[in-house]
Amino acid sequence: MIILGIDTSCDDTGIGIIRGGQVLANVVASQTALHEAFGGVMPEQASREHLNVIDTVCKDALNQAGVTLAEVDVVAATHGPGLVGALLVGLNYGRALAWGRGIPFVPIHHLEGHIAASNAQPPFLCLIASGGHTSLFDVPSWGHYLELGKSRDDAAGEAFDKVARLLGLGYPGGPALSKLAQQGDVHAYPFTPPLRQQTGFDFSFSGLKTAVATLLKKTPDASPADVAASFERTVVDSLIKVSTRALKHTGRTRLVVAGGVAANRVLRERLDVLADDLKIEIAVPPLNLTTDNGAMIALAAWHRLEQGLEPASTTMLDTMQLDTMQVDAVPYLPLENTSATS
Ligand code: KG4
Ligand code: ZN
Repeated sequence: MIILGIDTSCDDTGIGIIRGGQVLANVVASQTALHEAFGGVMPEQASREHLNVIDTVCKDALNQAGVTLAEVDVVAATHGPGLVGALLVGLNYGRALAWGRGIPFVPIHHLEGHIAASNAQPPFLCLIASGGHTSLFDVPSWGHYLELGKSRDDAAGEAFDKVARLLGLGYPGGPALSKLAQQGDVHAYPFTPPLRQQTGFDFSFSGLKTAVATLLKKTPDASPADVAASFERTVVDSLIKVSTRALKHTGRTRLVVAGGVAANRVLRERLDVLADDLKIEIAVPPLNLTTDNGAMIALAAWHRLEQGLEPASTTMLDTMQLDTMQVDAVPYLPLENTSATS
């Protein structure tokens, strides 16, 4: 079965093509240059740019995969959460492709795509750390997602981006900050760990961002590399600490780490140590599947079809309206129990 997956939830136009669980093509047109000047994503500009490039991205993906549109069996696209105007472009493009060919269309929750990117088999615990989300899900099987905790304020990637901006680095800031941090001392500025007292599984990063802002105001000659290294270490410590607590709580022996921040070098190193310490298996997607892309949406659709699950969005519709072609773009869409049929 050949599945074409589309993601236009934010500022990347991603189309991927898979056969079974194998990724044949994964083309992403990044809008970074467009939004860089603004230091963040301009929603209206993002939608227009998706429209400009989506057809070319689709052709490139088909070429890269070596398949024709006539060979595609299923089309899948993200329908939420995300920027509604941006989502609409990929969703409508995907629906039009499926409708034109008379093949099934599967709407996918963006986070389910991130979870599917690692190709690990449930049961597992999943840490999603991206620009828009930081959550821990227990995943007993495909389609069943129990949110154990999430960020009470900024997402981890958002914190990286905001602190990078404070340090005068470009957008998106995560990779730039991480690069700078390699030359810094992680012990230079001992920031207070977020939610030190909690016994649960939540995250919080806005206090840390404020601590960096205050430090830079009080100490303008602070070494940017030291600040970056100390900040990165505090974020990674928090992600590891809460994930460790959740692993012990659930007894899961497999941890999937997904989302853009999963590309972070220090986090990956610490996960290797965690795997040894707890004798667990860690699954992190290949680098090109960690940030937003279409292949992860196709993979999520494949798992759904394999498991005979209803489209992820059926609970969003009333029972008279189960046609996946009717699904709307939804900016705020919880993953938990969006989808399970059994
Ligand atoms: O998953 P993603 O592409 O988009 C969302 O769904 O949000 O994640 C993008 C986020 C950005 O905030 C970016 O700064 C962060 O992931 N990111 C990183 C790294 N690479 C990307 N953060 C830290 N270190 C990295 N190497
Ligand atoms: Zn994402």
